[in-house]
Amino acid sequence: MSKFWSPLVSSLVPYVPGEQPKMANLVKLNTNENPYGPSPKVIEAIQAELNDSLRLYPDPEGESLRQTIASYHSVKSQQVFLGNGSDEVLAHIFHALFQHGQPILYPDVTYSFYPVYCGLYSIEGKAVPLTGSFEINPEDYRQPNGGIIFPNPNAPTGRYLGLEHVEEILQANPERVVVVDEAYIDFGGETAIKLVDQYPNLLVCQTLSKARSLAGLRVGFAIGHTDLIDGLNRVKDSFNSYPLDRLAQAGAKAAYEDEAWFQKSCAGVISERERVAGALSELGFEVLPSKANFIFARHKEKPGESLAKELREQGIIVRHFNKPRISDFLRITIGTPEQNDALISGLRAPLA
Ligand SMILES: Cc1ncc(COP(=O)(O)O)c(C=O)c1O
Repeated sequence: MSKFWSPLVSSLVPYVPGEQPKMANLVKLNTNENPYGPSPKVIEAIQAELNDSLRLYPDPEGESLRQTIASYHSVKSQQVFLGNGSDEVLAHIFHALFQHGQPILYPDVTYSFYPVYCGLYSIEGKAVPLTGSFEINPEDYRQPNGGIIFPNPNAPTGRYLGLEHVEEILQANPERVVVVDEAYIDFGGETAIKLVDQYPNLLVCQTLSKARSLAGLRVGFAIGHTDLIDGLNRVKDSFNSYPLDRLAQAGAKAAYEDEAWFQKSCAGVISERERVAGALSELGFEVLPSKANFIFARHKEKPGESLAKELREQGIIVRHFNKPRISDFLRITIGTPEQNDALISGLRAPLA
């Protein structure tokens, strides 16, 4: 606390990102990064941009990248909004498109940045409980609201909601913006982008941090009706006109030009996810069905917190949330086969 802080800053409860430890040789399975690394074409494209042009500002609209993403998803480039990671896109969404006076609805177990943005922009948030099996029930989103947001697949549960149920939520809320945060969609879900031309209240948000393995580059985007994108641009151009630097624009574009790398990377994560889920079940875990690049699991006897601690002592880092309903769980990012083997054998000793 400082006398120099504004009343708003004094009241904020900031997001706490997963740890980025400085120690070497860790098996780092705590922040849902992709173990396989970006396409070599991304590295080449970034290296090609390392020249005198860095003295010039980048394209504020990121037009070339927007066109690439638009044609990949069969929409118009005017339907694409870019941001410095999807976190920045989400922040602008809360600011630009959610109404005050009625609460923003999101699941009780979900991405913990949503309530933080509510605090930052002084809008009320309301946590809607997931079912007993940690699923989103579309019926629960038939209540007065100023907007709706949920990840699909949800995080940290990994559970996926079929598009027919996403449509139920959209149809029940035609006067409100419904945001589907698809950070993990490429690991087995079906994107709602195909619905944006049908539903002017739908905004789909994606990131290059997960399936395209570019968490360090910071690129995210939203796709929706041009009215929604125009609203986001008004906020962006009142905040920072150049969210994506030259290297990020070039690297992100190249990521979309290497479909084979992307497909191989996703397939590798998906097959390892199924193997790890099977091994954890054999070790006595209840594993929630996941369509993400992580799994959410609790042991029948051993609490999550002590398991996370014992793994850490072996140099294996997973995420534990000390929060209602989920304090028994571990969220485990899917790593390389070797990292996953280390995890499975690392769990054997504490569970013996
Ligand atoms: C559900 C969800 N949305 C958005 C993000 C933010 O991703 P980024 O800012 O790296 O694009 C994350 C990051 O872990 C996430 O889990």
